[in-house]
Amino acid sequence: MYWKVQVLEKYVIKGGTALHGEVEISGAKNAAVAIIPAALMVDGVCCIENIPQISDTDMLLTILRDLGAKVRFLNKSTVEIDCTKVRYQDAPYELMRKIRASYYLIGAMLGRFGSAKTTMPGGCNFGVRPIDQHIKGMTALGADVSVKNGFVYADARDGKLHGARIYLDKVSVGATMNIILAAALAQGRTIIENAAREPHIVDLANFLNSMGADVRGAGTDTVKINGVDKLHGGSYAIIPDQIEAGTYMVAAAATGGEVLIKNVIPRHLECISAKLRETGTIVQEYEDSVLVKGASTLRRVNIKTLPYPGFPTDMQPPMGALLCLANGTSVITEGVYDNRFKYINELRKMGAEVQVDGRVAVIEGGRRLTGAPVQACDLRAGAAMVIAGMCAVGTTEVEDVHYIERGYENFVGKLRELGADIEIVNFSDDSDPSEKIVMIS
Ligand code: UD1
Repeated sequence: MYWKVQVLEKYVIKGGTALHGEVEISGAKNAAVAIIPAALMVDGVCCIENIPQISDTDMLLTILRDLGAKVRFLNKSTVEIDCTKVRYQDAPYELMRKIRASYYLIGAMLGRFGSAKTTMPGGCNFGVRPIDQHIKGMTALGADVSVKNGFVYADARDGKLHGARIYLDKVSVGATMNIILAAALAQGRTIIENAAREPHIVDLANFLNSMGADVRGAGTDTVKINGVDKLHGGSYAIIPDQIEAGTYMVAAAATGGEVLIKNVIPRHLECISAKLRETGTIVQEYEDSVLVKGASTLRRVNIKTLPYPGFPTDMQPPMGALLCLANGTSVITEGVYDNRFKYINELRKMGAEVQVDGRVAVIEGGRRLTGAPVQACDLRAGAAMVIAGMCAVGTTEVEDVHYIERGYENFVGKLRELGADIEIVNFSDDSDPSEKIVMIS
């Protein structure tokens, strides 16, 4: 073990350039972070295409390697994973606690080994993010689950999980996917009621089915899983990222540019397209692309975030940044998380006028934003600050960009291709030297 000085990075953005051109969307983060752990359950080699190159997928692949999987990149977005020889052992905790999606290791390891020990999940912090519905699901499948000292311990009572009927008290993407994972190799039939319906849930089900699982009804609120004895190897391509696409759509609209967003499934973007059209933005849909043309003046809109097919909570911060520029008063109601407006404080530093009361933000739009030093409070909040910076007068410096790199592949490179004046600058933070020292083990 040794110590080193951590090199910090920030994005420096000179505002005022409208985005123009074409951008290619990467594979969906929230599908990839479940499909990579799902590969643990496959008795054979699986080849996964369209893996986004982001730090969350890097960390999960490192965790699989640590558990004994053979992981080989065939090209930058295609990875071959062979978990045939993986035997049960504890997963590396330091990595697991950094990402929210490490909770999928509970379902995958329980399904394959009948046991799992993981850390409580990390990831973006927007209020309390409990995993009680995951635990309820695993318990119903016949696991003893306990949480002690920041770890989750799960063990199948008789060494194997058994199908069960599970009603989720809250529509949860993570709990739905985790239960699907665990149930895929359980004995008998599992029915999840009040399931989440996000596109990445369908993608996980399609991945598992292509490896021999029997998952039906994904994308509806009732998912039925008939457990199978084993999963075999195969090939699968992950769907394009709905939120990455939505972020570029909002960036094009906010900067008043014109961008063709390629490699998307327009149906997954309908809720975002509809709201952008209300602002006066033109959105044209093609087979696997959307063209976004910014309006000369943006109109106010109200937004309420909801589980799919509602307006995605992950698009709330980027839209919040855009609505600071729209004429009139917009109201955003956050319907998924208790505390997802921390980024508003950062927008205020740039001149935004916003009142927040609990889950409601009232934005007095039509203000000019001015460049300022701001922080990326979390992944999507970071994207919102970059959008605000591209629309502001002057220079914006966004710190804590490691959050952004958790979920956007080559964000700065793609924006530069579209004409944005943005660069990555290394810096050291003199105010708190202890934060610059990191432990390497
Ligand atoms: C996933 C996404 C995240 C997105 C969110 C909602 C991943 C890795 N992350 O997160 O980007 O913002 O869906 O679309 O896919 N809840 C409980 N108990 C639980 C589980 C959740 O009370 O056991 C609550 C949460 O606190 C939240 C709501 O349910 O208020 C929805 O959370 P959930 O859908 O589970 O989000 P994640 O799967 O964590």
